[in-house]
Amino acid sequence: LETGCLSVIVLGASGDLAKKKTFPALFNLYRQGFLPSDEVHIFGYARTKISDDELRSRLHGYLVDEKSSSPQQSEDLSKFLQLIKYVSGSYDTEEGFKRLDEEISQHELSKNSNEGSSRRLFYLALPPSVYPSVCRMIWNCCMNKSDLGGWTRIVVEKPFGKDLESAENLSAQIGELFDEPQIYRIDHYLGKELVQNMLVLRFANRLFVPLWNRDNIDNVQIVFREDFGTEGRGGYFDEYGIIRDIIQNHLLQVLCLIAMEKPISLKPEHIRDEKVKVLQSVLPIKDDEVVLGQYEGYRDDPTVPDLSNTPTFANMILRIHNERWEGVPFILKAGKALNSRKAEIRIQFKDVPGDIFKCKKQGRNELVIRLQPSEAIYMKLTVKQPGLDMSTVQSELDLSYGQRYQGVTIPEAYERLILDTIRGDQQHFVRRDELKAAWEIFTPLLHRIDDGEMKPIPYKSGSRGPAEADELLAKAGYLQTHGYIWIPPTL
Ligand code: BG6
Repeated sequence: LETGCLSVIVLGASGDLAKKKTFPALFNLYRQGFLPSDEVHIFGYARTKISDDELRSRLHGYLVDEKSSSPQQSEDLSKFLQLIKYVSGSYDTEEGFKRLDEEISQHELSKNSNEGSSRRLFYLALPPSVYPSVCRMIWNCCMNKSDLGGWTRIVVEKPFGKDLESAENLSAQIGELFDEPQIYRIDHYLGKELVQNMLVLRFANRLFVPLWNRDNIDNVQIVFREDFGTEGRGGYFDEYGIIRDIIQNHLLQVLCLIAMEKPISLKPEHIRDEKVKVLQSVLPIKDDEVVLGQYEGYRDDPTVPDLSNTPTFANMILRIHNERWEGVPFILKAGKALNSRKAEIRIQFKDVPGDIFKCKKQGRNELVIRLQPSEAIYMKLTVKQPGLDMSTVQSELDLSYGQRYQGVTIPEAYERLILDTIRGDQQHFVRRDELKAAWEIFTPLLHRIDDGEMKPIPYKSGSRGPAEADELLAKAGYLQTHGYIWIPPTL
């Protein structure tokens, strides 16, 4: 295990991502003992001129819930806040970064007493437009200097570009300064418990191994729904749209984990090699296998142009051209302002050949992995209806995490991923070639939407989205189970 001074530098410290995700994740890691006070210091950096205490008080409300916090939590919080120092400066001149470097070095001198190495983790909670200049400044002024070893790493978050060309440009600019092992591209879906469980579910269970292919699986759905609109993020969202915001990254990463071959080992490079192969096997998306939507009222947001063509909903079929998946539609659906909030994977199996119960059956076997909320894995089965009659009914084998793992706290995605960046584990981060392959899939479609050649269909806020999306689902072969709903168990 590495020891020595660790400096975590949050750039964009006063922004939304930092307040809502980065600092709370750091606080949770601190509380669990992963960021020991005698080794760690946290620096916030941003343009706003505020004092250390002002930053601390701004963060306060995001770190604990005043009403329900325990005395222990308040004590932890005040100790944690004392670890944070603030430095203000611009993102494109050396002056601020030199001061930042002095602060970090001072802290390293005071903590190191010459044992251990110096580790510097730069978390860019910033818009990607400033990544190149910020990376340059870090490289010029703030790299780890200890002779005793250590490292400098940078953490970046999507959007990594808007299409293949811009993404490659961004990668090239960062790549001139940092090597791939120093770059951590976060996709926070890779930090979710049930996403991480995919590998175990698939490769540690004999049950699924022989079934996981085109002979047995009819179709796969990966669904993301939110029951709220773009609330306050209209400006950002309108430039990107739902495909760039959710599908090209979060849902595609999940698709890779469902579809990839077994990696040689759990080494990050082995896993990422397999994911890249899946992406490279995806066929061009067909226009008639895409349904786009935009919720009514979206354009009322003053930051959204009146004639915006940006989709807030998309349903599309991806086809993987390889021996395992030829002919199996992977249906990716994401939407804002829908009737519910959930993310899940549905793997629907084919009908039983020569089925003798057919006329009475309600549905097919379906393996459902509920990523959120109420994490669960359940398998829809047909069983005999208990009683005197020989009739069938749809039921399930249910592994609901809340019930099975009572008292276990499932870590926040960001918490887990930040810990990985400190430990140097890149398994759950997106590699440059993976990113490129992901953009290759969506760029032609995105360009057609950007040029107004494809238009979103309006849908009512709070609905299921455009009816055309359900038609596409039926066309892809998905069979709805009638008269059965899975009800998450209550504790
Ligand atoms: C972000 C998107 O990456 O993921 C947001 O930019 C979206 O639009 C969010 O709301 C969803 O994350 P989660 O973890 O709440 O499903």
